[in-house]
Amino acid sequence: MPIAKISPSLLSGDFGILAAECKRMVSHGADWLHMDVMDGHFVPNITIGAPVISCLTKHLNAFLDCHMMVSHPEKWVDDFAKAGASLYCFHIEATQDASALIDQIHAAGMKAGVAVKPKTPISTVMELGDKMDMCLVMTVEPGFGGQRFMAECMPKVKELRARYPNLDIEVDGGIAMENIEAAAKAGANVIVAGTSIFKAQDISGTIESFRTFVNTEQALLEAENKK
Ligand code: DX5
Ligand code: ZN
Repeated sequence: MPIAKISPSLLSGDFGILAAECKRMVSHGADWLHMDVMDGHFVPNITIGAPVISCLTKHLNAFLDCHMMVSHPEKWVDDFAKAGASLYCFHIEATQDASALIDQIHAAGMKAGVAVKPKTPISTVMELGDKMDMCLVMTVEPGFGGQRFMAECMPKVKELRARYPNLDIEVDGGIAMENIEAAAKAGANVIVAGTSIFKAQDISGTIESFRTFVNTEQALLEAENKK
């Protein structure tokens, strides 16, 4: 059964003290750190690139979950691998040959993730389920933090989970206490959250609650599958 991994989005942190923000999230129980890479082309915003990841990995030993909101994702694979990225998650909408790109990412020594925007059907990635290490089902339009969770994306998570009981399925965008249960019930086990974690009164408690919701639902799903 895929266990919960909570991946706070550093986009909600203070980029001026990024390494300290990463360490703070790890100290609160984060399993992964979600790094939002935006190129101002695939999405209307620019954030960070491989040089920043490379500086960060000198200060940290954490799993860096890199969400590549970029055009031509094949261009940055080697730079991110050298910089110390752990998982390279590209958008299916940004590539012509997802299968070859997954091979390229694996050859560079990283885990490969494939992301789908809210309006992209899940059928576009369904056949990659045995090849990719993770599927990211976006629950907001990529580009900015602090948007509203789109519950209408949950049937995509459900469909993917039904076909791939062991795949890491990540949800990203607007996840908070009021919708974590819906995401967990649909079958997501990797939880990205920016605003709801960074603005929480009790960050450790929020991370722990997300983890409990996910692990509880995964145990129920597993029991259901064994029937
Ligand atoms: C949006 C990013 C998200 C975002 C999540 O394009 O991919 O990772 O930072 O932030 P919240 O949780 O605030 O929606
Ligand atoms: Zn993201």
